[in-house]
Amino acid sequence: MEPRARSRLPVTAAAALLALTAACTGGTVQGRPGASGLRDPYFPKAGNGGYQVEHYALDLGYDPAGGRLHGTAVITARAEQGLSSFNLDLSGLRVEGVKVQGAGARFNRTGNELTVRPAEELKKGEVFRTEIAYGGKPKALADPDGSEEGWITTGDGAVGVGEPVGSMTWFPGNHHPSDKATYDITLTVPHGYQAVSNGELRSRTDTGDGRTAFAWHSPEPMASYLATAAVGRYEVTTGRTASGVALYTAVEPEEADRSAGPLARLPEMVEWGSGRFGPYPFGTAGAIVLPAGTLAYALETQTKPVYSGAPDSEELVLHELAHQWFGNSVSPESWKDMWLNEGFATYAEWLWAEDQGEHTAQERFDAFLEGDTSVDGRAAADWDAFPPAAPPGPEDISGSPVYYRGAMVLHRIRQEVGDEKFFDLLRGWAVDHRHGNAGTAGFTAYAERRTGHDLKKVWDVWLYGKARPR
Ligand code: ARG
Ligand code: ZN
Repeated sequence: MEPRARSRLPVTAAAALLALTAACTGGTVQGRPGASGLRDPYFPKAGNGGYQVEHYALDLGYDPAGGRLHGTAVITARAEQGLSSFNLDLSGLRVEGVKVQGAGARFNRTGNELTVRPAEELKKGEVFRTEIAYGGKPKALADPDGSEEGWITTGDGAVGVGEPVGSMTWFPGNHHPSDKATYDITLTVPHGYQAVSNGELRSRTDTGDGRTAFAWHSPEPMASYLATAAVGRYEVTTGRTASGVALYTAVEPEEADRSAGPLARLPEMVEWGSGRFGPYPFGTAGAIVLPAGTLAYALETQTKPVYSGAPDSEELVLHELAHQWFGNSVSPESWKDMWLNEGFATYAEWLWAEDQGEHTAQERFDAFLEGDTSVDGRAAADWDAFPPAAPPGPEDISGSPVYYRGAMVLHRIRQEVGDEKFFDLLRGWAVDHRHGNAGTAGFTAYAERRTGHDLKKVWDVWLYGKARPR
């Protein structure tokens, strides 16, 4: 035993020295590959390690007749370590070429991982530019819960929706909500079509070949799952809210009549939300109403939520608007924090109804506890199936407890701390984490600090507890 142990020491030291020599050349630490995933508890391969994106410039042409997308993605990112290679998430499509800092880079693909090996290694802290030329016929993805996301074709157009991981079907990126970036999305489509995306329309240019280029700009950070691109024969309406937020709605003509009512109060809702949750986080607001039947859900795509057919209620419009504060400006750290999106957006619906003189949030809360569907038709839903902060699997992150029991968590806090402190908490949470990311542990600590109340029982029973609370 003794001799062996002794003889191992020098070997270890030599190996360490060798490793050190290998890692250092002329005093600088050499790069290593960036991680192929961020180990999200529900989507471990989503996102990539070793860098943070600052900006995406997508310049894409879409041909509705052939269903083909073609163009370039220019990704400006900052290296967080020395990088010999790094990954992007991309599903389907063909990569035609990759350049890093203007020089041709080697790349290969396995599954949804595109690995890029720059000609020259990237130094920690370096801001670098990756240009990917790509194209093909994008395809939709099936979510773990069975619904479709990604690039979805409609009768005469298409839309990109990405919660949680569908954005990789239409552009390469660091597709995890923890990496937010600004965007410029330019979409070139045949005459007669509108192309709609997040943020503001900077220009609309006739390209001279029978097509129009729509250049959309998002100056505020955006998680990639909130990016959208909709191509279709939409009716466009523009306007402004009382406080000056620009409005842009694109509505499928067949849905225009039925959309008018629910969308009419959007400007007023923006002002209401600003009063309740702090200033509206973006320069623009609006909606995209897709042909009916395109999706099984609405999605809070940044600044312009998408609806599959006319929104069926005013409260749905309010819900997607509320996500602009909760989810889009304050984004989840991981897909486990989904209740911070859905519980808050649902509670915002309850608050809006309460402020309209309809049912109070207390009445909704009671209706859920008692399964009284006469107050809220969704009250019989299985809101108690699991704790909102611990969905059992990726198929449950959009499950009803995340929405309804999530909202009930907020109402329980309100009961404990009273209205004044509760509304201060909602607003403080949105303002203090504006354009950032936050997780569940961050929220519980913040709530206790901000209100000065010990809320452990609420967390134990309502947020994390497996048993149905009573
Ligand atoms: N976040 C969307 C909303 O609440 C719903 C997305 C549903 N997605 C799904 N895969 N079930 O507005
Ligand atoms: Zn929602």
